Amino acid sequence: MAGLIPKSFIHDLIERADVVELVDSRVPLKKAGRNYQACCPFHNEKSPSFTVAPDKQFYHCFGCGEHGNALDFLMKFDGLEFPEAVEELAHMLGLEVPRETSSNPAADARKRAQESSDYEQMELAAKFFAHQLRQHSNSTRVIEYLKGRGLSGEIVKQFQIGYAPDGWDSLLSSLGKDQRSKDQLVALKLVNRNDQGRYYDFFRDRVMFPIRDRRGRVVGFGGRILEGDGPKYLNSPETRIFHKGRELYGFYEARQANRELQQVVIVEGYMDVVALAQAGISYAVASLGTATTTEQLQMLFRATRKVVCCYDGDRAGRDAAWRALENALPLLNDGIELSFLFLPDGEDPDTLVRKEGASAFTERLNQAQSFTDYFFAHLTETIDVQSDAGKSLLLKQAKPLIERVASEFYRDTLMERLARLLRRETSQLASQIKAPTAAKAPQDGLKMTPMRRAIGLLVQHPYLGQEIPLHHELRGLKQPGIELLLKLHEQTQAQALTSAQLLELWRGEPEEKALRQLARWQHHLETDRVNQEFFDIFAYFIDQFVEQRANELLEKERTAPLNRTEKQEYLTLLQYLKDREKR
Ligand code: UTP
Ligand code: MN
Repeated sequence: MAGLIPKSFIHDLIERADVVELVDSRVPLKKAGRNYQACCPFHNEKSPSFTVAPDKQFYHCFGCGEHGNALDFLMKFDGLEFPEAVEELAHMLGLEVPRETSSNPAADARKRAQESSDYEQMELAAKFFAHQLRQHSNSTRVIEYLKGRGLSGEIVKQFQIGYAPDGWDSLLSSLGKDQRSKDQLVALKLVNRNDQGRYYDFFRDRVMFPIRDRRGRVVGFGGRILEGDGPKYLNSPETRIFHKGRELYGFYEARQANRELQQVVIVEGYMDVVALAQAGISYAVASLGTATTTEQLQMLFRATRKVVCCYDGDRAGRDAAWRALENALPLLNDGIELSFLFLPDGEDPDTLVRKEGASAFTERLNQAQSFTDYFFAHLTETIDVQSDAGKSLLLKQAKPLIERVASEFYRDTLMERLARLLRRETSQLASQIKAPTAAKAPQDGLKMTPMRRAIGLLVQHPYLGQEIPLHHELRGLKQPGIELLLKLHEQTQAQALTSAQLLELWRGEPEEKALRQLARWQHHLETDRVNQEFFDIFAYFIDQFVEQRANELLEKERTAPLNRTEKQEYLTLLQYLKDREKR
C-alpha cells in the first residue's frame, strides 16, 4: 500500500462513482423527490431520515448527522481506512489505483504485486484446509469432533473451517511448488524451515479457523488441536499481512451475516464466535489471544454503536475486560454504548449458549453491566470509599482515566458518579478533572454569519462559482473566512465540481471540518433563490469592503495627505456608495 494516491485520481474516482448506486448496493434506497431515502444504517430509526442527493453526490442523515461522499460511505459502512476505501471504490469501478512515489515506483509495484500474491496464497491455503476436511483419511474423525461440538455443516462452511493434515508436508507439497512459493509460505508462517534447511508445515493435525480481515481476505489462521499433547491453539504469528492488534476473528463474517450490526459481542475464543453463530447469535467477534486494542474497538464502533465485552469471570477474564475498558476511553462518544458481561465460573459463551440456548444468552447480553457501573465497581473493589484515604485514592485512580474520555456526556456521567461516591459536589471535581485537549464540544447550532452562508452555499452548489466573476480585491476584507471563500470560488470557477469533489480537495486540511459542517447546513432556500442569495451576499461583502477601504483612506488622511491615486480611489469609492444609496 506504499505510495501516495494522486489527488487527481481521487478526483476522477469521485466523479465516476455514483454515491446513489454505491449506497443502494448496501442499503436499498427509495426515490423521494430529487433525492433518495432509507432508514439510516448508522443509527437506529423507524422512519427514514437518511438522504442521498444524486446532484451533490452526497449522503446525509438528518437524524444522526452522518454525511459524506462515496469514500466516506465506504469508510464508515465497510469500516475501511481512507486508502482502503479508495482501493475498494476503484476496484468496484474496475480502476487501478496509481501511486505517486518519487523515490522508488518499481519497488512499490513489486510490493503491491507481492501483497496480492500473499492474499491469494492465504486464500488457497484456506481452501486447501477446507478441502482436507472433506477429503482427508482423517476426515471422519475431524467431522465427528466438530459435530460433537455442536457445529452444523453450514456453519463450518460459513466460517470456512478446515483441517490441517497430520503429515509434515501436506500444505507444503500442495502450495510450495517452487522455491519462490516455498519462501512465500515461510514468510506467511504457513511453513517452517529448520536449521538443516528442511521445510515443514506449521499447522499439523489441527482444526483450522481462517482469520479474515475486514475486507474478507484471509490473513492468518488459528489451529485447534484435536487431542493429545501440545498447545490447545496454535495461531499464525504476525506476518507482513497479519497484525493481530488490528484484526478481529469473526468480524467479516458478522458483517456478512447482518445487513446492519445492531450490536457486537467481543468474546475470547474462536469456538465462542462459531458456537454463538451456530446458535443464531451472528454478531460475535474474538480478539486474537490479546487484549482488545483501541484499533480493534475503533473498527467495531465504525460498524455499530453497541459493543458488549463478554469475558470469563476468572482473573484473566477480568484483566482482559479492564484493559479493553482502558483502550475504549478515548473512543467513547455520545451515542455509543459499551457494556461488560462476566460469565459464571467455568463457563464460556460456547458452553453457556449450548447449555442455556440463544435467548437466555441474549438476555445475559441485555443485562450486561454498563460502562459506568463496571468502571466504578472495578475501581472500588479494593478501596474502602468510606474512609478519607480511600476517597483520595479513588479520586487519584479515576482522574487520569476520566480525563481520557472524549465524550462530554460520558465524562459528566462519570464525574457525577464519582462525586456521589466521594460525597462531594460535581462542580468541585470539575476544576480538578479536565477534558482531553483533543476533544472539542460539538459545534451544533453554528451561527450562520454571512460568510458561513456564502461558503455553505458555494459548497452545496459549486456551480455558483461560475456565475460570478472572481473578486480578488476582497482579500483585503477584514472578515474571518474570506480567504477560504475566495479559494473556494477559484476552485469552483476553474472547473465544474460536485460538492463531493470540492470537499475531497479539502480532505485533511484544517478547513475540512468546517466545510463538512457547512455542507450539511440546511439553507431552506428554493432552488431559484439560491443564486440570488449568493449574489446578495457577495454584493454585501463588496459593500463592506468599500466602506472598510473608504474608512481606511479617511483614517490615513488624518495623519498625512492622500496622494493622487489614493484620492482617486477614495472618490471612486464614494461614488460607489452613493450609487448604492440609489439602488
Ligand atoms: P480458551 O482456552 O478459553 O479456549 O482460549 P476456547 O476458546 O474455550 O477453546 P475450546 O472451546 O477449548 O476449543 C481462548 C482463546 O485464547 C487463545 C485462542 O485465541 C483461544 O480461542 N488461546 C488459547 C491460544 O492462543 N492458545 C492456547 O493454547 C489457548
Ligand atoms: Mn471453549
